[in-house]
Amino acid sequence: MANKSLKYKRVILKLGGELFGRKDGWGISFSAYEKIAKDIIKIKEKNSIQLAIVVGAGNIFRGREVGGQGVDETVADYMGMLGTVINGLALQEVLERLGMPTRMMTALEMKFIAEPFIRRKAIRHLEKGRIVIFAGGTGSPFFTTDSAATLRACEINCDVILKATNVDGIYSEDPQKNPKATRFSNLTYKQAIEKNLEVMDATAFALCWKKKKPILVFSVKDIGKIPEIVRGKKIGTLVADEI
Ligand code: GTP
Repeated sequence: MANKSLKYKRVILKLGGELFGRKDGWGISFSAYEKIAKDIIKIKEKNSIQLAIVVGAGNIFRGREVGGQGVDETVADYMGMLGTVINGLALQEVLERLGMPTRMMTALEMKFIAEPFIRRKAIRHLEKGRIVIFAGGTGSPFFTTDSAATLRACEINCDVILKATNVDGIYSEDPQKNPKATRFSNLTYKQAIEKNLEVMDATAFALCWKKKKPILVFSVKDIGKIPEIVRGKKIGTLVADEI
């Protein structure tokens, strides 16, 4: 049963692949999956939100970073999509080992290891309290997993997109490169696109704008605060129609 006092009842959590990597963000760290899985389980235990997760693959392969090496971009993007399936499987395995029911759905059909994405089935799984992991990006090259998160959020009627990153919001510049960069607490979609902030691609912002889906960018360290976020607490940077 959905909790009526919640601001956001059905939520998409976007987890970038670098969150699953070793200290430098690369490779596979089973302890990183486990830490995130434990936080996610606590969120589900604290309230009755419906939770879907979109996983990235930046710890394994980033299709957009092969430019200049002569590699076909389309093939590189498909390699990245396969990377998201590795992260999805690992996250699913640990969530279920810790007792949380999940279903994984892929945008590219891989029926021996996961269900294909079927909108109505995804919604049914959420209604039954299962965490649904979406892997395979959008299933098409030239898109990012941020676009996949916004696409799925719009398709399955999520109330918000929560993007967990290594920084605690959207900054005027990369705070790891410029310590004087300032953090925005709110942005409109238009500002986010015009400022070309690189935290999320313009396609993702544009779809959110059209469908009026709020995006909250926050630190992965604050995943444990999601129960407060869904009750309306503001942390990180909120991108929405009005500020
Ligand atoms: P409901 O019975 O509708 O509540 O959903 P369910 O997921 O429990 O039932 P279903 O019979 O569809 O699935 C049973 C198990 O098989 C679940 O773990 C699914 O994730 C898995 N499953 C269903 N379809 C596929 C598929 O196409 N490929 C793979 N690999 N697994 C599937």
